[in-house]
Amino acid sequence: MAFAHFSTIVLVTLGAYQIVNAALTKRVTCASGHITANAACCALFPIVDLLQEQLFDGAECGEQAHSALRLAFHDAIGLSVHGGNGGGADGSILAFNSTELQYHANGGIDDIIADQFPVFLQTNLSAGDFVHLAAAVGTANCPGSPRLEFKFGRPPPKAPAPDLTVPESTDTVTTILARFADAGFSPRETVALLSSHSVAAADVVDVTIPGTPFDSTPDTFDTQVFLEVLLKGKLFPGNGSQPGEVLSPLAGEMRLQSDFAISQDPRTACIWQAMVDNQLLMQIAFKAAMAKLKTLGQPSNLIDCSDVIPVPAPFKTAIKYPASFSKEDVQIACHLLPFPSIATVAGPAPTVPPVP
Ligand code: HEM
Repeated sequence: MAFAHFSTIVLVTLGAYQIVNAALTKRVTCASGHITANAACCALFPIVDLLQEQLFDGAECGEQAHSALRLAFHDAIGLSVHGGNGGGADGSILAFNSTELQYHANGGIDDIIADQFPVFLQTNLSAGDFVHLAAAVGTANCPGSPRLEFKFGRPPPKAPAPDLTVPESTDTVTTILARFADAGFSPRETVALLSSHSVAAADVVDVTIPGTPFDSTPDTFDTQVFLEVLLKGKLFPGNGSQPGEVLSPLAGEMRLQSDFAISQDPRTACIWQAMVDNQLLMQIAFKAAMAKLKTLGQPSNLIDCSDVIPVPAPFKTAIKYPASFSKEDVQIACHLLPFPSIATVAGPAPTVPPVP
């Protein structure tokens, strides 16, 4: 009797497990032949192709891919968990660009808006879905990036985000952490989001040197930026010192004052250092923080269409000090963790080329 009771429990449990498993693995084959979790996602595959062809030069991790990621941040951060600070990841930066492009922190965003708008008009996506789909697809073009999630179904934005929601590189760490906290992000998530500066360059910090990258490998989503921001600064890459810029270790490389301050601040230094040469940690932390960022302020019933996002190429090699640098050049601000052992590229110190 006891055994019969036990086997009934086993059978019921097994049946429930199989139903859950079947639900988890249920797939739809679209007319295009793509396989996805939800029929609603089928409409997105041609739009991913359109983005790759018309915006990302055939799936490149170039200027447009970098800028699409930055645009997603500047769009989404326009929200306060206390209310009254915009609609978050709603695409307002695209739909109300004539207002939001006036804001000082959105300097340089005009180019990606100009590039995205005609492509956006060829789709019937909401502005929020378009901005956050483009960011996930563009980031996937960068080897080493995690495959970002994409949730589908954002309603159209109602109004522009107000000014002063986007942090600036002239801000103090306290101001930056307070703004991120106001949007719902911890210091750990803030540092995770800054992994994005691995595939980034500045056009307007110093207008004399457009396309100046933040690390020596701006077309690879690696942890090189976390290492290079810690190296002793020696020079300004362009027209002397600009607001929001501090000394950089390499010719051709730009260091943001905010990145350096965050790397040295006791509240964030160990989180920053933990990313150095830890590709997996960076990928997991960035993916999770981006999933939150890309749905800020949006309904909870968005459809998970993450499987429309291309699978990024892997980055498996260990990072290296740029030629002529070693651990002696690292400004270690975290004394709780050992600093990883990293080899040095052979040869003379490089000059980092601009992102074309
Ligand atoms: C403390 C917060 C942040 C500050 C102060 C900051 C500041 C900046 C600045 C000044 C630039 C250069 C703009 C130019 O001169 O063209 C830049 C570029 C960029 N930022 Fe940030 N940023 C922050 C956080 C983020 C976050 C959270 C993301 C994404 C999740 C992001 C993604 C990017 C990308 C991808 C670029 C390069 C754009 C391109 O190459 O066209 N940033 N950021």
